[in-house]
Amino acid sequence: MDHFNYVDGLLHAEDVPLTRIAAEVGTPVYVYSTATLTRHFKLFQEALAWTDHLVCFAVKSNSNLAVLKLLGSLGAGMDIVSAGEYARAKAAGVPGERIVFSGVGKTAAEMRMVLEGGIRQFNVESEPELELLSQVASSLGVVAPIAVRVNPDVDAKTHEKIATGKSENKFGIPIAKARDVYARAASLPGIEVVGIDMHIGSQLTDLEPYRQAYAKMADLTRALRADGHDIRRLDMGGGLGIPYRRDNNAPPLPIEYGQVIRDAVGDLGCEIEIEPGRNISGNAGILLSSVIYLKEGEGRDFLIVDAAMNDLIRPAMYAAHHDIIPVVESVPGASVAPFDVVGPVCETGDTFEKAVQLPALAAGDLVAMRSAGAYGAVMASEYNSRPLVPEVLVSGDQFAVIRPRPTLEEMLGRDTIPEWL
Ligand code: LLP
Repeated sequence: MDHFNYVDGLLHAEDVPLTRIAAEVGTPVYVYSTATLTRHFKLFQEALAWTDHLVCFAVKSNSNLAVLKLLGSLGAGMDIVSAGEYARAKAAGVPGERIVFSGVGKTAAEMRMVLEGGIRQFNVESEPELELLSQVASSLGVVAPIAVRVNPDVDAKTHEKIATGKSENKFGIPIAKARDVYARAASLPGIEVVGIDMHIGSQLTDLEPYRQAYAKMADLTRALRADGHDIRRLDMGGGLGIPYRRDNNAPPLPIEYGQVIRDAVGDLGCEIEIEPGRNISGNAGILLSSVIYLKEGEGRDFLIVDAAMNDLIRPAMYAAHHDIIPVVESVPGASVAPFDVVGPVCETGDTFEKAVQLPALAAGDLVAMRSAGAYGAVMASEYNSRPLVPEVLVSGDQFAVIRPRPTLEEMLGRDTIPEWL
């Protein structure tokens, strides 16, 4: 459920008509709903209410400071993967003891930064990382709390580019090696073992891969405890999918996912961490865009809109589907026709979707691409020298620009021309 609905024939974000945002901010623009973000976060809190837990929002899915501030003030922790994301989480007021640091390529400088600023836990992804972390923490005279990310070799049954839990993926340590790596960790100065971490992929629409992975995690917890390690936290990762289409094939709900966790590891007495990103932010955002031209082609008609692949790369990158709907509701029985919805970028891949059934639209009309709150603005670029797309946050009947559209001068002003040219 989200808060983008038609009211009196006009698509609204909560109580704000999208026409108002387009008029005041221009298009293309991302629009997020406070009520949807809040609701989705709380669903995870409720799903884990049976135990001590921390819901760590995956900052990579939507890293706008206002979004992080909102979730942080609701009690969210943050799952970060870079110094930049750490700085964002801190700037949004999230304390270090609620931030977990994931990622396969943490540098010494990043380790130093978060150890000095405060961190709940490193999710260590390799043996060389463990050795480096030990050195960095020791040199600072501190102890780094760690979980080892274990790769359970489970097929997450999702798009191959976002599956992470198979042995051929670059993530984590093979589960067969885990006991040796934990033994090494326990022997190293500056390292304290606190738990185990897993993350098997993104946009999972089936709970079975989780069941398989978490069963392995439960076995590993028992084995590591028998080896003398104090395993007191389990980080179950993120990845629960969202409905990108409004049909009857909705993925499982957070409450069902919470039950899978409880069934698998509920008897172990561990604090549970999860790292959902898309499920909190995905359907809390839309990309609002205007039609520039309607172009008749041979055998197909194109709707050329002012958003492009640089603003929302998911269709080009993963062949992802985003519902595209008109902001002015089409009246029942009105005729619709198929359009290829494309952006202005000079690539054939700059196609949001082919043969979308839409009513007759004209230049200047608005369309919304749904489910764009996760991996939308964060993956945007300036390709074709198109300034980064702005972002707006709605709450009730008010909205605020939470990232303005850069001017062309600002965009150009970042480049420098050497004096010898
Ligand atoms: N934790 C870790 C360690 C991750 O790598 C990820 C996502 C998450 C949590 C959050 O997963 P989520 O709950 O959002 O599925 N750009 C792609 C998705 C990449 C996901 C990468 N890792 C897309 O647009 O589909």
